Amino acid sequence: MSHGRFDNPVIAALAGFWDIFRKQENADKFNETHRFDGKICIITGANSGLGFACAVEMAKRGANVIMAGRSGFPDAGVRVRRKSGSDKVEMRYLDLSKVGTIHEFVDGLVKDGIRPDATLLNAGVALPKARRTESGQDEMFLVNYLSNVILTNLMVSKGVIPIHSNGFSKPRLIFISSDSHQGSSAIDYSEFGRFIDHGVSKGIENYSYFKLILNTYATELSRRLNPGTVNVGVNVICPGPVHSNIIKPAPLPLRLVLGAIFRIIFRSPAKAALPVIYMSVSSDYEGKTNEYLHMFNNKKMDPKVYIPEEGQKLWEESFRVWKEIDPFING
Ligand SMILES: NC(=O)c1ccc[n+]([C@@H]2O[C@H](COP(=O)([O-])OP(=O)(O)OC[C@H]3O[C@@H](n4cnc5c(N)ncnc54)[C@H](OP(=O)(O)O)[C@@H]3O)[C@@H](O)[C@H]2O)c1
Repeated sequence: MSHGRFDNPVIAALAGFWDIFRKQENADKFNETHRFDGKICIITGANSGLGFACAVEMAKRGANVIMAGRSGFPDAGVRVRRKSGSDKVEMRYLDLSKVGTIHEFVDGLVKDGIRPDATLLNAGVALPKARRTESGQDEMFLVNYLSNVILTNLMVSKGVIPIHSNGFSKPRLIFISSDSHQGSSAIDYSEFGRFIDHGVSKGIENYSYFKLILNTYATELSRRLNPGTVNVGVNVICPGPVHSNIIKPAPLPLRLVLGAIFRIIFRSPAKAALPVIYMSVSSDYEGKTNEYLHMFNNKKMDPKVYIPEEGQKLWEESFRVWKEIDPFING
């Protein structure tokens, strides 16, 4: 069954073209006074592309940056320090396709007493064909979706993200999504969490479909953490088209075509990072939750994302799959 809006990678890449020329309504509100001095920021997938650019920008603006990733040790951290001129940058190991490393990562934060002010759930992959993880899931499902459920739930349940913080600023969770989620199908629970072999077309569909699932989860998490009052800002952003390494796993001919589109049309990670930084630190987002930005524009996500029954069902199904695959919570 078809789930995503696009099944052709070239059309999917070109679909973001006009968005670049749209007026960016909040861009004028963002400036050099937006700083992170004294704040801690965690970024998943920070060794490359958008995550790397966010790490540089946050470090430049005074943040203590924790780059969480599975590769790029130590050179990505060294480059962030050099580009930002800050030494308040560290790297920690986190492979989101291996559930055990998520536990180790969160336990490390607990041990070191780290309580991030902003956490960017940024890591993601776009794979041309299905790849099975150690725990038996489709890698894109696990990395782009379920690992974010596991990571955020462990961070909250272990107090890394305190729900009732006395501080002036509430912690912020920001999910990096894609506007291509708009128009994806409703969540199909007959396939949920199951490994199904596929090729390029289905891979492209799944990419936007998993972003719809991610946004539905973010909306449900926002509901659960904020009953009546905002305790944790849980917001979602699409950075627009970014000239990053996301096409690296594509087969060579496709990579050449997409590479040309990325080079000519797409924006640099440094530019694409700016609305993410704005959402992470601006007082415009203090006390706000379940907001969506498409670059610098306020927007609504796909209407299905906001249906409470969908959120409830997704929560239950996500926990069911998590429990099935995670030996660390099954004892
Ligand atoms: N590029 C775009 O046009 C675009 C548009 C909209 C949204 N986005 C979203 O932006 C986010 C960042 O992507 P990008 O474009 O900057 O691509 P990228 O340069 O490929 O960066 C992706 C990051 O995710 C990391 N990652 C992948 N699998 C991982 C795993 N198992 N464990 C930990 N980290 C893992 C990668 O690490 P490795 O280097 O080790 O693989 C890399 O650091 C993604 O969520 C993507 O969906 C991108």
